[in-house]
Amino acid sequence: MTLKLHTIIASTRPSRVGPTVANWFHEHAVAHGKFDATLVDLADFKLPVFDEPKHPRLGQYEHEHTKRWSASVKAADAFVFVSPEYNYAPPPSLLNALTYLAAEWNYKPLGIVSYGGISGGLRSAQVTRSIVTTLKMMPIPEGVPVPNLAQFISKDGIFTPNDPMKQGATLMLDELHKWTGALKALRG
Ligand SMILES: Cc1cc2nc3c(=O)[nH]c(=O)nc-3n(C[C@H](O)[C@H](O)[C@H](O)COP(=O)(O)O)c2cc1C
Repeated sequence: MTLKLHTIIASTRPSRVGPTVANWFHEHAVAHGKFDATLVDLADFKLPVFDEPKHPRLGQYEHEHTKRWSASVKAADAFVFVSPEYNYAPPPSLLNALTYLAAEWNYKPLGIVSYGGISGGLRSAQVTRSIVTTLKMMPIPEGVPVPNLAQFISKDGIFTPNDPMKQGATLMLDELHKWTGALKALRG
């Protein structure tokens, strides 16, 4: 059975650049061929600031937006977050989306494509890795940082990666695939 990878666009703000980076990565994942790859836009779920009355670990969701988000995350075997860095940290949209759920994330591996200024979003990615362990995810060390993002985006808004980014994406997908198969056994 082919393992399911969801590439999640973590930024939800108007005029965001996240989708152009995520489109590239998603196409790279499709061409890589080991996963059944789906591109997921967090903005489509229109999640308000966390508003469920019960703890997510109970899985008793009151709101339709949570039920939709839960079904999406539950369907995936592995994730790649395409995430910017805001104030040396992940964007609040991503932290909020993580907070909404619990079991849906458990025992699933995560790779991160990070972007920003000179740091390539590495600080943000490392904070995300720390947070997701509480949700029993396995954040893998391989990642794809995109430093000074603007230089890789054309006037018409298309992101074109350099060779290290392409090689890094392939390596990350290879490693993610190993973890995904191993962790699926834990989920029964
Ligand atoms: C509130 C805010 C804080 C930011 N903080 C950082 C930062 O700490 N480090 C960095 O490299 N870039 C930072 N940036 C620049 C973002 O990386 C850049 O605007 C990027 O395009 C954001 O991704 P998005 O357009 O997909 O939302 C910040 C941008 C915003 C809007």
